[in-house]
Formats: sequence, C-alpha cells, structure tokens
Amino acid sequence: MADPRTSEVDGAGTSLYVHVPFCVVKCGYCDFNSYVADQDAAHERFLAGLAAELEHAWPAGRVPKTVFFGGGTPSLLSEARLERLLHSVDRIAPLRGCAEVTLEANPESITAAKAAVARAGGITRFSMGVQTFHPHHLRFLDRAHTAARAEQAFGELRAAGATNLSIDLMFGIPGETFAEWAADLDRALALGPDHLSCYNLTFEPGTRLYRDLQRDTVAPNDQEVDRAMFEHTREQLAAAGFTAYEVSNFAGRGGACRHNEHYWLQGDYVGVGPGASSHRGGVRWTNLKALEPWSAAALAGLPCAGSAETLRPRQRLAEAIWLGIRRAVGVDLIAAQERVGVSAMPELLPILDRHLQRGYVTWDGRWLRLTAAGLLMADQVGGDFLGLGVAAD
Ligand SMILES: C[S@@+](CC[C@H](N)C(=O)[O-])C[C@H]1O[C@@H](n2cnc3c(N)ncnc32)[C@H](O)[C@@H]1O
Ligand code: SF4
Repeated sequence: MADPRTSEVDGAGTSLYVHVPFCVVKCGYCDFNSYVADQDAAHERFLAGLAAELEHAWPAGRVPKTVFFGGGTPSLLSEARLERLLHSVDRIAPLRGCAEVTLEANPESITAAKAAVARAGGITRFSMGVQTFHPHHLRFLDRAHTAARAEQAFGELRAAGATNLSIDLMFGIPGETFAEWAADLDRALALGPDHLSCYNLTFEPGTRLYRDLQRDTVAPNDQEVDRAMFEHTREQLAAAGFTAYEVSNFAGRGGACRHNEHYWLQGDYVGVGPGASSHRGGVRWTNLKALEPWSAAALAGLPCAGSAETLRPRQRLAEAIWLGIRRAVGVDLIAAQERVGVSAMPELLPILDRHLQRGYVTWDGRWLRLTAAGLLMADQVGGDFLGLGVAAD
C-alpha cells in the first residue's frame, strides 16, 4: 500500500466538490455555509440548481480526480433525492474511475438504506461527524444526535459494506477535561475507523459560540489542557497504527483523504452548490451563498459565482506554504516556487530563520517541515508565511 504521507505528491488533475447546504440544526461552532431547511421545496430547488450548474461548470464526460459531497449534511437528503443527486453528478462527471468519492454523513440522518443507495451510486468513502460521545458536550455543541446513535450509524455504514469510513472528532470543547477527551478517542477507536480527523475547536466569527465568547458566557479551554489533548491524540493514534499525515488528520487502513491532499497541494478543483469555492490555475471564485440566488443563476444558465479573484504568484506561494506546512511531509519550497512561477527566497529566508530559531521548523534546503513543537503552532507559523502574499510581485 502507498505510504499515506506521500501518496499525493503533485496536485495534478481536477477534483470536484459538491456542497449540500442543509442541516437539521445549525451547530453553535459551525461557520460553514449551511442552514436549517428540510422542506421538500428547498431540496428540490437544490437538486434542480445543481444539475443546471454542473452542465456549465464541468466538462461533460471528464472524470474528476476525486469527488467530495460535503456540507452541510448530504445525508439529510431522502434516499430518492440522494440517488438523483449522485446520478446528476455521475452523468456529467463520471464517478467510476475517480480515485475517491466521499460522502459526509451525519449520525441523525444516515440510514442503512441511504448508505446502500450511496454505495450503489458511486460513493467509496464515508466521513461521519461525531465530534464527541459525551451527552453534555453534544448538547453544548447543538448536535442533533446521541452518542449511541453515532455508534449505531457507524455500524449501519459498515453493514452496508462501507470499507473506508472516517470519523470527525473535536477536542478543546469549553469545559472539556483531558480525561473526557481521552475517553472520546478510545470510544472512536473501539469502532475501528479507517481514518480519523481530530480538530481543535476554534471560535469562528459569526457563530453562536463566538457571540457567547464575546458576551463572556463561555470561556475557552485552558491552552495547556488543549496542548496535552493534542499530544495525547498523536501518541494514542500512533500506538493504534494511524499515520499523522496532517496536523489534524490520521490515516488508518483507508489511507489519507486524497481529496483534501489535493486541496493542500493547491490542485485545481471545481466546487458546485451554494457558496462552494473553486480554484483553477490561480483563479479562485466562490458561488453565491443563499439557495435562491444561486439556483436562479444556475437555472438561467448564468455563472453562479458571487466573487472571484486572480491570485498573484506571491499570494499563491504564500498559500502553498500555509496549506502545505500542515502536512507531515512538509512543503517543497523549491517546487512550490517553480510551480507558481516566482522566486522569493530573499523574502522567505527571514521568516524561515525566525521559526528555525524558535525550533518550530526544519529546513533541508528544499523541504520545510514543522517540528513536534511547531505542530502546536501550525496556525501561527503558517499565518506568518501567509503575510508574504501581501508583498507586491
Ligand atoms: C463542516 S463540518 C460538516 C460535517 C457534518 N455536517 C457534521 O456535522 O459532522 C466538517 C467538520 O468540521 C469540523 N468543524 C466545524 N467547525 C469547527 C470548528 N469551529 N472548530 C473545529 N472543528 C470544526 C467538525 O469536526 C466537522 O465534522
Ligand atoms: S457541523 Fe455539520 S451539522 Fe453542524 S451546522 Fe455545521 S455542517 Fe451542519
């Protein structure tokens, strides 16, 4: 089997992202483009808009490198609609032949029957958001399922024949103790997932949790406790045979998520659905976010983009480092400069030196990697390099 740390090396090809914006509830921490709408009319409008958008957003018949059905909650669609969604995509962007086709599934809405429909329609990988198994934390996060339901749903996916099954967890939930997190990790491992994503909770502007933070009704966890949770995660998952191929992502039998690897390598991708982003050859655009204007544009055969920007070479380089540095293999700075067509060593060296001195990175003249201490500072180190993007080319 290919080493999941190095299975994706160049970001070649074009991937497809399909955004399903509906959720049963809006979780207090989530700033993704998703809204509570499980009425038939909204779902029908979405399916019609998506079929129309695909007609002009994707060259018919071209096989995507990878496909990701994300959200939102794609598993909220009924069986019949899920089948129609997969069929509409497959008609334009053939799913068979893709390296990986992932469906995000939430415990409250995935069923054995939907899993069977998904597999028959071309899904090869499921990613289930569990976040925590503790009832008080599930409530705090506004999750629409219980821990028992998450375990049951996992079993249903397995019984439906899912062989590549990933679980999302979050640590650093306000009030969470180290012991609670360790127990969450053990309970997730006991299910035997093929991949795990473990995210440190962040307070995103615009969310209920962020407003609570500003009102002082919620306090962030102690940073030292979060740090201990992070370190424990790496140790525990290494002992369980998982490879930490990115700061928050761990590959078991299922290997790395190839779709995310493609993003981190700045590969080209087309995003369809409300609010979905696309990136092609240094141009990035984002679709209109609300269902109505997005679907109206799609059905009229008009572009669905609400905004677009052409990334300057230095901006692309800065983003290559910001995204790539989170990977265990690090970033090949020489290849990244060649790829975006800019030579910026004089500006890179002072930033690099600063982090070398702090012991956050290693640099062998080509590959820049985070050290164990640097992993805990990934956002700050990456953010520092991002500053390079504001310099003129
Ligand atoms: C956009 S969600 C979609 C998945 C699915 N709807 C669900 O609820 O599980 C993808 C993942 O991002 C993570 N996530 C979302 N908001 C986050 C935040 N503020 N901090 C850390 N992780 C977050 C969660 O682990 C979640 O499973
Ligand atoms: S975390 Fe998932 S279920 Fe919750 S609001 Fe975000 S997309 Fe919806």
